Amino acid sequence: MATTRRRFLSASAMLAAGLRGRLRADAPDQKTAIPALKPPTHPVIITRETGDETIRQAYAMLLRGEDTLEAAIHICQGREDDPNDHSVGLGGLPNEDGVVELDACLMHGPTRQAGSVGAVTNIRHAARLARTVMEQTWHVMIVGRGAERFAVDEGFPRENLLTDDARKMWLLWKEHGTGWWGPGLDNPKWKPEAPAGSSPRAALLPRHPAPEQMSMVTGRLRDLYAQADRMGIPARLRHEAAMQVLWPTTGTIHVSALNTKGELSGATTTSGLAWKIPGRLGDSPIIGAGCFTDPEIGSAGATGNGEENIKVCGAHTIVDAMRQGASPREAGMEALRRIARNYNNDMTRLRYLDMIYYILRRDGAYAGVSLWSSRGDGARKTYVVHDGTQRTLEVDYLFEGISQSIHPF
Ligand code: GLY
Repeated sequence: MATTRRRFLSASAMLAAGLRGRLRADAPDQKTAIPALKPPTHPVIITRETGDETIRQAYAMLLRGEDTLEAAIHICQGREDDPNDHSVGLGGLPNEDGVVELDACLMHGPTRQAGSVGAVTNIRHAARLARTVMEQTWHVMIVGRGAERFAVDEGFPRENLLTDDARKMWLLWKEHGTGWWGPGLDNPKWKPEAPAGSSPRAALLPRHPAPEQMSMVTGRLRDLYAQADRMGIPARLRHEAAMQVLWPTTGTIHVSALNTKGELSGATTTSGLAWKIPGRLGDSPIIGAGCFTDPEIGSAGATGNGEENIKVCGAHTIVDAMRQGASPREAGMEALRRIARNYNNDMTRLRYLDMIYYILRRDGAYAGVSLWSSRGDGARKTYVVHDGTQRTLEVDYLFEGISQSIHPF
């Protein structure tokens, strides 16, 4: 009896100490690693080209003192509402079953909260839904049918996101390209050449062919144009549809926003890889890959090959490098180098990948960095900054040249 009571007393003493809690005396001081970053004298937004007014409007929101995450979502929603942006929201390209599945994640610096949705169907505003997950639940991430049901319960309208144009592009893809998503570039057995005895479709089809590959690409494009005509796809859509069949988009938009109080938020939204296997998630719904925000340090996000970004936890890697004192540019280059290292710097594989990181530090310093320097037309890849003036800037880059992007036939 006495023993039991002693045990009870010592257990209650431990519980009481646990409830109070205290930092152990020899705990290292985390603060020493954090550079003191003063907020900027003007708000800053970093994102990609949107072709609309939302960046300017979001900047005005920041000047009026509105929430940094609300400003970021405003820009995301502009893309989600545009049926002609086939990388996000309404009009996003569907999965292989013809169903549009959206992904989004975001972080709110002032409250250090995060929210995310993955493979959500029939709900246009995926970024807003991620915010609702963040605010209305103690979850961070809700996916699939559960995310749709949650959205409807929270008052989001259900709607068909597959526009007529996106459906026509999907039908063309069904005719020409179904059923191949592997093995991936990261598979040790992957070979740049078509396997012996395979059909001509199995040939590697680079988006920016060398002269000797040109006839193969133009031949495939000609076939697709003819098929599109037979299917009644309008001439205005024919080229875009053919290009999406041959080189499926990984689209996406990321926005990081900072105000003069040093409050930071980030948001990323996408319809993901076109024609994906149903349920495939890229980096965009993954906190730490598609988006990461640390209110003391900075915010970062990505567009590009989601699978590669997941493997290096890109956005978190970048913010953590800035925590160690790296500049936004150096931090972005570190994440890109990690992608390259995952391929042992093998350029025969890396040339088929791409990634752009959008990076904003708490003091207003920023960078846009890319694995490859240039777009298909030879022009430098770009990003957009608004810090009082909205500007389109050229990315810094790891490799000089054009990323090829391949169709996996
Ligand atoms: N970066 C978007 C995706 O891969 O889904």
